[in-house]
Amino acid sequence: MVSFIVFKSTNQQKSNKQKIMKVLIATDKPFAKVAVDGIRKVVEGAGHELALLEKYTEKKQLLEAVADANAIIIRSDIIDADVLEAAKALKIVVRAGAGYDNVELDAATKAGVCVMNTPGQNANAVAELALGMMVYAFRNFYNGTSGAELLGKKIGIHAYGNVGRNVARIAKGFGMEVYAFDAFVPAEAMQKEGIIPVNTADELYTTCQIVSLHIPATAETKNSINFNLLNKMPKGALLVNTARKEVINEDDLVKIFEARPDFKYVSDVEPSNSLALKEKFAERYFATPKKMGAQTSEANINAGLAAAQQIVDFFATGNEKFRVNK
Ligand code: 3PG
Repeated sequence: MVSFIVFKSTNQQKSNKQKIMKVLIATDKPFAKVAVDGIRKVVEGAGHELALLEKYTEKKQLLEAVADANAIIIRSDIIDADVLEAAKALKIVVRAGAGYDNVELDAATKAGVCVMNTPGQNANAVAELALGMMVYAFRNFYNGTSGAELLGKKIGIHAYGNVGRNVARIAKGFGMEVYAFDAFVPAEAMQKEGIIPVNTADELYTTCQIVSLHIPATAETKNSINFNLLNKMPKGALLVNTARKEVINEDDLVKIFEARPDFKYVSDVEPSNSLALKEKFAERYFATPKKMGAQTSEANINAGLAAAQQIVDFFATGNEKFRVNK
């Protein structure tokens, strides 16, 4: 059921200088209630208004809800040129989370809208899920047969950002040998944290039985995880994707499943060809029906409150620290 509620601020003794802004939470996949309560406190505490659009099923509902919003907090919700066009009073969109591939940045820039994310705020939640999925796959999806342990296995972290670092930290706790590839992170920074840096993606996939993906979906990375790369993985290969489905070449995924009976794939969000994968490779494939990585009350609170605070600061002082569009 869709809910659309406006909370009037209880604290509107603002100076005449600062305008009361309308902040809309637009989340198809809602935050935990405790996070919404916290966001309301931050927004209303600064004298602004909060509106809530959750579980909407049609774009039309989003277009209507944004009409008078000055700020929007979203998750994986799509903010495209149509939404920006409908949001005539919009000044800022904050993606409560890491990846902002769901926002048309050029269109936002053109509309004079500042786009931000909240880097790191949900990283631990995603990392915990990645490790949980590894255990699940290594224990044969809890089907009662004898599986394998993570202790002593080589794990490759593909992109050493906030989530990658948390995966590395937890994997070390499991006693795994942790490797990482990230063209933008100096080798010394990884070594300092007990991680073995490698120079290329090829080297990472050749070395590690388990690879955990943490690359964003960009023009360069889309479809980049292909047959050639995956076929380099050692026997008993497991690919864990808590990043984006778009980074996988889905035809090649089918090819590797067919060519390598030892290959397993677990993903936090279903690939487009999920049904076919389920039918053909049920014993070696699992995907969450809805993205679950950041779906914890802690991550909702961290990312939601950070988003609210960034909006309040933006309106109060013009702070654009986490801006991601030019
Ligand atoms: C992110 O980019 O922060 C994660 O993919 C979480 O996305 P979600 O907020 O839609 O769960």
